[in-house]
Amino acid sequence: MTEEPAGEGELTAPVRLAVDGGAGISADDAVTLLSAGELSIEGRVMDASNATFYCGVTFDSASAACVYKPVAGERPLWDFPTGTLAEREVAAYEVSAASGWAIVPPTVYREGPAGPGMVQLWVEIDESIDIARFMRRRDMERLREIAVFDAVINNADRKGGHLLPTDDGHVYGIDHGVTFSVEDKLRTVLWQWAGARLTGHALDALGRLRTELDGALGERLAALLTRHEVRSTRSRVDRLLSTGRHPQPGGDWPAVPWPPI
Ligand SMILES: Nc1ncnc2c1ncn2[C@@H]1O[C@H](COP(=O)(O)OP(=O)(O)O)[C@@H](O)[C@H]1O
Ligand SMILES: [Mg+2]
Repeated sequence: MTEEPAGEGELTAPVRLAVDGGAGISADDAVTLLSAGELSIEGRVMDASNATFYCGVTFDSASAACVYKPVAGERPLWDFPTGTLAEREVAAYEVSAASGWAIVPPTVYREGPAGPGMVQLWVEIDESIDIARFMRRRDMERLREIAVFDAVINNADRKGGHLLPTDDGHVYGIDHGVTFSVEDKLRTVLWQWAGARLTGHALDALGRLRTELDGALGERLAALLTRHEVRSTRSRVDRLLSTGRHPQPGGDWPAVPWPPI
C-alpha cells in the first residue's frame, strides 16, 4: 500500500504503542516524538483520498513510522471548510485521549516537509483479520466504544478500513478529517447497537468527557475547532447522556459510507 521512493533504504518500522499495561511506547512519549522529531517522507499511501505520506520521525535515539497529511494536500469538500481536516484529526485524538478510550493513535499538528499538517503514529494492523466480517461483529465491546466515540465526534466517514485491529487485540480508529460538523452527519458501518442502551462503561466515559469539555479538553478543542463546533460537541455528549442510548440512523443523510470498507 505504501510506495517506496526509488533509491531509498528500508522504511522506518512501526513502533508498538503500550496498551492495557503492555510493552511499548507511551502515548505521551509518542506525542513528544511526533511533535519534536525530524520528519522524513518515505512513501505515499496509494489508496488515500488526500495526499497522505508514510514517514519516519526521529528524536534523540527514538524513531517511529507515522502518517503525515499536509493541509496543502487536502481535497476540497462541499460540506467541510477547506484546510481544516488536519485540525479535526487532532481534535478527534484529543477527545479519544481525554475519554480514556485510546481509539485514535497519537496525533499532532505540526510543520512538515510539505507545510503544516497532521502527523499520526503508524499502527501495524493484524493482516489476518477480515475487516468486512470484523466490522459487523456484535460481540465486541471495543467496536461498541468506537460507535459511541463516533457519535461524540459526529464522524461522517467510519468505514471498515478506518478500523485498525492489531495483533495485541487492540482496535484503533483512523481518518477523522470529516468530523465535528455542527450538523448531524454520523455516517458509519457500526450501526449494530443503534437505539440500544449505552453500557455503564460508556456512560462513565461520557460523564468524564462532559467534565473535561468544560475544562482542559474544551480549551484544547477551542484551538482546533470553531466555538460553534465545540458547543455542538458538548450538546452531542449531553444528548447521549440524557437519552442513555446509542443514536439511530436519521434523516436524509446517508447513514453508511460508500464504499463501506
Ligand atoms: N495511523 C495509521 N496507522 C496505520 N495505517 C494508517 C494510519 N493512517 C492511515 N493509514 C493507512 O493509510 C490509508 C489512508 O489513510 P486515511 O487516513 O484513510 O487517508 P485519507 O484521508 O486520504 O482517506 C488508510 O486506509 C490506512 O490503510
Ligand atoms: Mg480514508
